[in-house]
Amino acid sequence: MRFLPMTFLVLLQQRAAQALAASGHVLPDQFQVTVDPAADTRFGDYQTNAAMVLAKALKTNPRALATELAEKMDVSGISAQPTVAGPGFINFTITPAALATRLEEMLADEKLGVPPAAEPKTIVIDFSAPNVAKQMHVGHIRSTIIGDCLARIARFLGHTVVTDNHIGDWGTQFGMVLHGWKQGLNEEALLADPIRELLRVYKAVNAESKAQEEAVKAGERTDTPIRDACRAELVKLQAGDPENMAIWKRCVDVSLAGLSLIYQKLDIQFDHYLGESFYNDRLPSLVAELEAKGLARESEGALCIFFDGQPELGDKAPFIIRKTDGGYGYATTDLATIEHRVKVWQADEVWYVVGAPQSLHFSQLFDATRRWGMHPRMEHVAFGSILGEDGRMMKTRSGESVGLQELLGEAEERALAVVQEKNPELTKQEKAEIGHAVGIGAVKYMELSQHRLTDYKFSWEKMLSFNGNTAPYLQNAYVRTRGIFRKLDGPAEFPGPYELAEESERWLALTLSRFAEVVPSVLEDFRPNLLASYLFTLAQAFHSFFEACPVLRAEGQVRATRLALCEATSRVLRTGLNLMGIRVTERM
Ligand code: ARG
Repeated sequence: MRFLPMTFLVLLQQRAAQALAASGHVLPDQFQVTVDPAADTRFGDYQTNAAMVLAKALKTNPRALATELAEKMDVSGISAQPTVAGPGFINFTITPAALATRLEEMLADEKLGVPPAAEPKTIVIDFSAPNVAKQMHVGHIRSTIIGDCLARIARFLGHTVVTDNHIGDWGTQFGMVLHGWKQGLNEEALLADPIRELLRVYKAVNAESKAQEEAVKAGERTDTPIRDACRAELVKLQAGDPENMAIWKRCVDVSLAGLSLIYQKLDIQFDHYLGESFYNDRLPSLVAELEAKGLARESEGALCIFFDGQPELGDKAPFIIRKTDGGYGYATTDLATIEHRVKVWQADEVWYVVGAPQSLHFSQLFDATRRWGMHPRMEHVAFGSILGEDGRMMKTRSGESVGLQELLGEAEERALAVVQEKNPELTKQEKAEIGHAVGIGAVKYMELSQHRLTDYKFSWEKMLSFNGNTAPYLQNAYVRTRGIFRKLDGPAEFPGPYELAEESERWLALTLSRFAEVVPSVLEDFRPNLLASYLFTLAQAFHSFFEACPVLRAEGQVRATRLALCEATSRVLRTGLNLMGIRVTERM
């Protein structure tokens, strides 16, 4: 059985709460002690501002209260007697003995001390979701990488996770694709690169159609035959016309085949690919149900859900569930989709990893869902954009706007070139493996190390650098930890008890123990960058330790302790990177 670990942070919180309860002070309602990692590590490892918060409520001197509490607190087995700093912070310094024990426990635990979720949930994660025949743009890239990371972490914490790729495989773009397909599809090009050919067709028709509409506006012509033809094709498709259905089906199939190559490169899998079209049959009855319940009403020929009195949901912008032409769109499909997730998959939570521009859509969807009578926890995990190195659109070497496939290929190529230069004596296969791990890892890490809401610049130089907060830097730190074990003659055995004598050993052990705090914290506000910066700190702590403390030349328990620190660092780096979908290799 796994030992059920409690982090130092939680333990300290409990001890501080006990001391407060025993202090005889009257605590305000709902007063909660919080402990945080120390802002300034010169004063300790953790701190609490509880005395300051309480002093304010009790109208007493915060420093005096902090001193009183620090004296009374029983932190035996965890920390040295707490000290008081500044206006009334109470600081804790974890003892080497407690850290040594924790190190032993971590190594005995396959989850490295990370506590399982207190209440495991069924969580549906909706991510990636590109659109057939449309460009897979940077928003989809960000969604894919962030969504996969969140899924991995939620699973690691013991939740039941269902990943669903809600492909945009139904929609008005098919009017143009069908028209273009019939006018001049290049079969050869379709076989060679389906996503590109469908996109070409779509773009060509779109451009011609737009040109005609412009000409009408300019008074140069009176009709828009292309737009009309596209509409007619779409109506035929929606009515189930066999020829159009067959073309549509082929478009979807070839697109999925093309997408699966991308997901393969990214090491990303989905449990389901229930695209928009999957819900078609449900839409008429769903709309009738909402109308009958009085949730939707007609407005200017369309059937809408309104959000009267809720300006943040767009007082004036209703959720259109049946258009004037009788068709259904994105809103209706999303209602059917969430119903499926709640009723069939029993979702307690549904997370949508979709760009920030869709936040109004999701606020409206969530509100409509609740009024309809379903109450899962619903979260829109939004994110910003990626900019090219020039701060504008991203471009490839050849100067075209990027397709994801080319981008990932280029990442591997560039990584391979770096590896080639650093370590020419590796075998061809090793180099290919490392090129993949480093190239794809670099792209993912660049994404995950940013706060998801900030726009960031895409930079090959930066992401492939071996110095700095990058995937290669962390992968290289892992390789260094493995190098120690390769040099070991004899079996890799390092039984406790451990002794942490040097400050760099203590600091590394403390940093290792914090993995258990950081992994769950990522899900609090969906911030993979917390894990990234943690791993970066860990790699730095390891390098300082490794410079200060010889491992193989040490003896006895000093050597065992140092090997244990190396092994734990190695496992935390590997596990942490894997939680971001990033591979490690034994050499580089
Ligand atoms: N296909 C949509 C787009 O590209 C994203 C879909 C997100 N998921 C959802 N259930 N709406 O914008």
